Amino acid sequence: MNIPFLDLKTQYLSIKDEIQDALNKVLDNTAFAGGPFVAQFEKEFAEFCQVEHCVGVGSGTDALWLALLALGVGPGDEVITVPDTFIATAEAISYCGATPVFVDVDEKTYNMDPNKLEDLLKSRHALSSTPSERMPKAIIPVHLFGQTADMDPILEIAKKYGLSVVEDACQAHGALYKGKPAGTMGAAGCFSFYPGKNLGAYGEAGAVTTNNAELASKMRMIRDHGQEKKYYHGCIGWNARMDGFQGAVLSVKLKHLPAWNEARRKNAELYNKLLSGLEGVITPKEMDYARHVYHIYAIRAQKRDDLIAKLGEKGVNCGIHYPVPVHLQNAYASLGLKAGSFPVAEKVASEFVSLPMFAELTEEQIRYTADMVKALTSKS
Ligand SMILES: Cc1ncc(COP(=O)(O)O)c(C=O)c1O
Repeated sequence: MNIPFLDLKTQYLSIKDEIQDALNKVLDNTAFAGGPFVAQFEKEFAEFCQVEHCVGVGSGTDALWLALLALGVGPGDEVITVPDTFIATAEAISYCGATPVFVDVDEKTYNMDPNKLEDLLKSRHALSSTPSERMPKAIIPVHLFGQTADMDPILEIAKKYGLSVVEDACQAHGALYKGKPAGTMGAAGCFSFYPGKNLGAYGEAGAVTTNNAELASKMRMIRDHGQEKKYYHGCIGWNARMDGFQGAVLSVKLKHLPAWNEARRKNAELYNKLLSGLEGVITPKEMDYARHVYHIYAIRAQKRDDLIAKLGEKGVNCGIHYPVPVHLQNAYASLGLKAGSFPVAEKVASEFVSLPMFAELTEEQIRYTADMVKALTSKS
């Protein structure tokens, strides 16, 4: 058996007619950059997230960057995030001219540890003679793998110290925290529609959600060269527009997202059942406060590189999200953070194995994968 890590083709074939109709409409309207199909998707995604505004942009990286810029993050500022994330979270901070400051993650959830966040801010506050100038400006909790961070304490701490919260919901379309949709709890929520995401475009795309009209209008300006109206530029912006084809594709796919997320949850449930109690393997834990949407189904295992290679030989294609925490990437060597700085993030990153996960995964594929994991991790 050969099991892909991700199978975009099967999903495409299941919605081929709808997609081709939608693409033809964009062609007939020659609405290629921004335009009505993006506006329509923005309206639908805002409704889906139960939020007032959605601003479609070119990627999840753009979404994070624009949200920070619109919040006034700039040179000399610090923004807090986690080391176990895709590097884009930190890059967005750096591209504002600001510096990422990391907080370790929780060993059960792999998300920002609110206690460590509080410790960091307490110590910064104690050190600072002029707190408003020396304190970090914003916090980006990342809803890693499709499970939200523990938002209530994070929001409370942010409020106490006067920091904005930008959710990195790039992996968490449709995830819930105590019934609230991911991306709606902070000042802004940032989504990626990279093709492999739970809601994936057929190219690059992203969006920011917010209930703040002023923030939304700033982001709309920045994504379009700072234009207030055509060729009148109120601020220095950028080209971060979503293209029309992506808007049209995303509108089609959004209708299927609840069913696809449900299928991912069922797949995760079966994996959990088959792998539970297996010595040396830790399965993901859905917290009481969360509705996990399993963008990634990551187990933890010792000697994981060996396990991944052997699973590959058996036809099970796995991934690692992510092998090197951001603070240990060469790109961030200038921060001077050494191994041991964030022990939990480093430990879990060295053990993660992402098993095949997508909505169309069959029971047979899950059972085969679980059998192979069992066979390859058993001591005998
Ligand atoms: C957690 C996280 N943040 C940010 C991004 C960046 O999104 P994009 O690839 O659409 O720029 C991604 C996507 O890979 C992500 O997973």
